Amino acid sequence: MIVIHFFLSILAYSSYAQNLEKFIAAVYEHNVILPEETATPVTKQEALDLMNRNIDILENAIKRAAQKGAHIIVTPEDGIYGWRFTRETINPYLEDIPDPKVNWIPCNDPKRYGINPVQTRLSCLAKQNSIYVVANIGDKKYCNTSEAGCPKDGQYNYNTAVVYDSEGKLIARYHKQHLFLGETQFNAPHEAEIVSFDTPFGRFGIFICFDVLFHDPAVALVVDHNVDTILFPTAWMNVLPHLSAIEFHSAWAMGMGVNFLSSNTHLTTRRMTGSGVFSPENIGPYYYNMDSEDGHLVISELIAHPRNTSTYYGIKWNQYASTIKKFPSGTNVFKGNVFFDEFTFTELKEPQGSYTICQNDLCCHLSYKKARNDAHKIHKNEIYVIGAFDGLHVVEGQYHLQVCTLLKCLSSDLQTCGESVDTASTKFESFSLSGNFSTNFVFPEVLLDKVNLAPNMFKVNTCIMLIICFYEVRLFCSCDCIK
Ligand SMILES: *[C@@H]1O[C@H](CO)[C@@H](O)[C@H](O)[C@H]1NC(C)=O
Ligand SMILES: *[C@@H]1O[C@H](CO)[C@@H](O)[C@H](O)[C@H]1NC(C)=O
Ligand SMILES: *[C@@H]1O[C@H](CO)[C@@H](O)[C@H](O)[C@H]1NC(C)=O
Repeated sequence: MIVIHFFLSILAYSSYAQNLEKFIAAVYEHNVILPEETATPVTKQEALDLMNRNIDILENAIKRAAQKGAHIIVTPEDGIYGWRFTRETINPYLEDIPDPKVNWIPCNDPKRYGINPVQTRLSCLAKQNSIYVVANIGDKKYCNTSEAGCPKDGQYNYNTAVVYDSEGKLIARYHKQHLFLGETQFNAPHEAEIVSFDTPFGRFGIFICFDVLFHDPAVALVVDHNVDTILFPTAWMNVLPHLSAIEFHSAWAMGMGVNFLSSNTHLTTRRMTGSGVFSPENIGPYYYNMDSEDGHLVISELIAHPRNTSTYYGIKWNQYASTIKKFPSGTNVFKGNVFFDEFTFTELKEPQGSYTICQNDLCCHLSYKKARNDAHKIHKNEIYVIGAFDGLHVVEGQYHLQVCTLLKCLSSDLQTCGESVDTASTKFESFSLSGNFSTNFVFPEVLLDKVNLAPNMFKVNTCIMLIICFYEVRLFCSCDCIK
């Protein structure tokens, strides 16, 4: 039943009177109505018509969230105009979005900055439903082509997240820093923008999609700017074993000790699904659905200041692994690829045991016990390995990673270890996995059969053992320090 990963990453480095202790957050996974692929730009009216069709669906979700008492709702990246654009064809979809410092409620004063029907409609949705609305739209800023950095067509186009408060006021604007491959219609700002704002229910920070794999602004918002909750519009294509949306985003919440509101687009043919309201101590609720094309609203109550009570924030992740003696590495150490990274693996040959596997500066230690009923029968063809990777990932973006992982191979052929697998039937009674990582930004992931998360089934304790309980026993495991 278990495909397990312990995913670690060193990221690429290059006031209010009525404070609430809790609040209700919503995220909406949206099946975006896409524009037709075209080489010639559509008219502004055609662009607006398409955006309004998407906003109609988002409006319904915003109303439902507000009726259920949500204080804030996040909608996805590209959730209003989709994708498949060039610099020319994105143009009719863009509006000029002012700096929030101007103190503007578009719903009350729609003409103040020209004609901005999308901003006005979003502001009105927030105001009329008394809810904070987070959306992703395109911003354009004209520049003088004789200035350094100004694009040849004389404008910067930005993939932009906007936030309207419950009175419809624009309170945050964030331009995506780490554009993904193919986002050639957009420009990245010259340096990462750190965007945060305070509410009666905590301090919020915002970034978009691929940004989550880098230090700035993502980690900086938490470490240097003390945000409680991350707002995360995304259009995330799932990549197993380590980078499925719900898997990585819930782990980020846990690893950084913050709430994480992740709103994804929904399109199964692109493996886009997986949204959730994550907090450091609670995985989910979340939505993941490869069987239908439906959008979905996820709502949950959250603690406003999770870092006050988070047991994870400030953990020394490598403490345990740095002090134990190495286990044997097994007789069958080999190399294999996980999403283009060459891992060092060793096969788990016994029903229970302990192994250490190292690569470069990283050593990973595993102790495990398969479930008794299970260990001797069937599933013989299910091969599990422990793997270590310490290096630079270079495909679809560059970032340095350290990963310790326990995973199921696709088939009994060891050459398939590291390929995407989404089902497993072997049961583990328990395991612990640790690594002597050289970073303190560590994201513990556990993914079960059929891409399910494992709420209440594992714990990372202060001694840095990750233990998973055999779920049939329905125990919540907590482990004592093993010294
Ligand atoms: C652009 O910059 C150049 C050089 O500084 C200046 O001569 C020109 O007038 C500027 N153009 C506009 C439209 O501002
Ligand atoms: C929780 O954290 C917030 C902001 O970080 C702080 O203002 C508040 O006093 C803390 N509350 C407690 C009970 O520690
Ligand atoms: C991890 O452990 C290995 C083996 O003891 C050691 O060579 C390596 O330097 C350690 N790495 C860190 C970051 O401490």
